[in-house]
Amino acid sequence: MSITETHEELRFDDSLYIVSKTDLKGNITYANDLFIEISGYSEKELIGTPHNILRHQDMPKAIFKLLWDKIQAGEEIFAYVKNRTKSGKYYWVHAYVTPTFDKNNKIIGYHSVRRSPSPEAIAVISPLYHKMLNAEKAGGTQAAITFLENTLSQLKVSYDAFILSYE
Ligand SMILES: Cc1cc2nc3c(=O)[nH]c(=O)nc-3n(C[C@H](O)[C@H](O)[C@H](O)COP(=O)(O)O)c2cc1C
Repeated sequence: MSITETHEELRFDDSLYIVSKTDLKGNITYANDLFIEISGYSEKELIGTPHNILRHQDMPKAIFKLLWDKIQAGEEIFAYVKNRTKSGKYYWVHAYVTPTFDKNNKIIGYHSVRRSPSPEAIAVISPLYHKMLNAEKAGGTQAAITFLENTLSQLKVSYDAFILSYE
C-alpha cells in the first residue's frame, strides 16, 4: 500500500458514532457516512474489503486477538483502537464490537459502534499499547497479552472494568 503515516490526528464529535458491519471473516459489509468520511475511503473501496484496511502500525496484534477470541465465542468486547485513514492520518475510537446472530442464535457476522474517546483515556491507552507493542516485538503476541494481564492484575482490575473506567 502507498499510504504514508503522518502524525496528524483526526477527532470526531462526541455525539456521533462510527458504525460498520462485517461478514464472518471481517470483510466490511456496511459502513455509515461518518465511517466513510473519516476513513477517507469511498463506500465502494470499503465494501467487501477486510477491516484491517484501517489497521494502524501502533496497534498491538494482541488487542485484535482478544477481540476476535471474544466475538467468535459469541461475546461482546470494548476496545480502544487507533485507526489509520487513507491519507495516513489517524483517529482513536472507543469501539464496541459484537456478533450478529440469526434467529437460531448462529453468528452470521459482526458489527461495531465506535465513539470518540476522551483525551484522558488516550493518555492511558496510548503508552500501554506502546509497551504492549514492545513486548510483542520481543516475544510475540502472547508476550503482549501477558504484559496486559500483568498490568491489569497489578491494578487489581478486570479488562472490562479497566476499559470502561475512562468513559
Ligand atoms: C466488526 C469489526 C470491526 C473492526 N474494526 C476494526 C477497526 O476499526 N480497526 C482495525 O484496525 N481493525 C478492526 N477490526 C479487526 C480487523 O478485522 C483485523 O483483525 C485487525 O485490523 C488486525 O488486522 P490483521 O489481523 O490483518 O493484523 C474489526 C473487526 C470486526 C469484526
